[in-house]
Amino acid sequence: SAAEKGGHEYFMLKEIEEQPEALANTLRGHFEAGRIILDEQRISDQDLRDVDKVFVVACGSAYHSGLVAKYAIEHWCRLPVEVELASEFRYRDPVLDRDTLVVAVSQSGETADTLEAVRHAREQKARVLAVCNTNGAQIPRESDAVLYTHAGPEIGVASTKAFLAQIAANYLVGLALAQARGTKYPDEVAREFAELEAMPAAVQKVLSTVEQTREIARRISDSRAVLFLGRHVGFPVALEGALKLKELAYMHAEGFAAGELKHGPIALIEEGLPVVVVMPSPKGRAVLHSKLVSNISEIQARGARTIVIAEEGDETVRPFADELIEVPAVPTLLQPLVSTVPLQVLAAEIASSRGYDIDKPRNLAKSVTVE
Ligand code: G6P
Repeated sequence: SAAEKGGHEYFMLKEIEEQPEALANTLRGHFEAGRIILDEQRISDQDLRDVDKVFVVACGSAYHSGLVAKYAIEHWCRLPVEVELASEFRYRDPVLDRDTLVVAVSQSGETADTLEAVRHAREQKARVLAVCNTNGAQIPRESDAVLYTHAGPEIGVASTKAFLAQIAANYLVGLALAQARGTKYPDEVAREFAELEAMPAAVQKVLSTVEQTREIARRISDSRAVLFLGRHVGFPVALEGALKLKELAYMHAEGFAAGELKHGPIALIEEGLPVVVVMPSPKGRAVLHSKLVSNISEIQARGARTIVIAEEGDETVRPFADELIEVPAVPTLLQPLVSTVPLQVLAAEIASSRGYDIDKPRNLAKSVTVE
């Protein structure tokens, strides 16, 4: 009923609006007496300290949350991090031992490939930490440590609030490792946690752009394809934006690392093709920012219709943006939490303009429990 959907036509729109709450609930209780704490830990602090390599394994949107985690964990912990699709990881011969931490990210905690990846890792003595949204699901049950996301039940098949909560939980995993390894001082961990705690309000601010984004979506809803460009943490955001559009609007959509533009994607640019660009902060990542500005000017000169997600007050990008959606300034590593939101709205509204059921997209299941 409409009441269940919070007055919305679709659960997904309600779930997009619930994201500030999902983030706040996921962070709550995980920083006590100056320390990051996990929900369950069946391995010792020493085991965490001894970790010398991290794999993040997951499927779908959860995999994209893992790609974001790589930037944070490498930066905070100085640990090598590989992010793997669970279905690839388990049939390769990944090099694991007891000092390897495998982080299994799964909203449902029941995804078949992710569960098998966990089993494969444990057989080789690796430690497994689950990031999961479902209490007592199979993946957390079979893991050595657990951090629950508290996004609440997610009805929409395309993940929104669970995805943002996964990103936040992955950051907590990174901080827990930095704390165990001593690569960050306690006051630095406290400061990073405080930055995270400011994110629900930042996401709430992004929600004020929903109507503007829906209008943009309606203007491009009859396009044949949409490209997404980003770099650094904006790259996984671009991948997630493209996945949402495929899932919901059944359109050809691809996310690219902006630095690869000249190695192929630029050949796809044609008159009127919408290209969504996720900009880094002009202050936080000035070098990357200027590279992206030049990418945008190149694609615009070739006729692309540029839809730019940029930090508030970013004036340099304005002349190159046919459409500009502004998000609040946040620390670079945390930017995916704000820049993903307009891409969710864009996909949902394009799909609904095309007349599709955005809560139950064709051929897709909420949780894929068979391979
Ligand atoms: C399905 C869902 C996606 C989800 C993926 C992984 O494809 O439609 O939204 O990201 O499974 O699910 P999990 O429950 O493991 O996070």
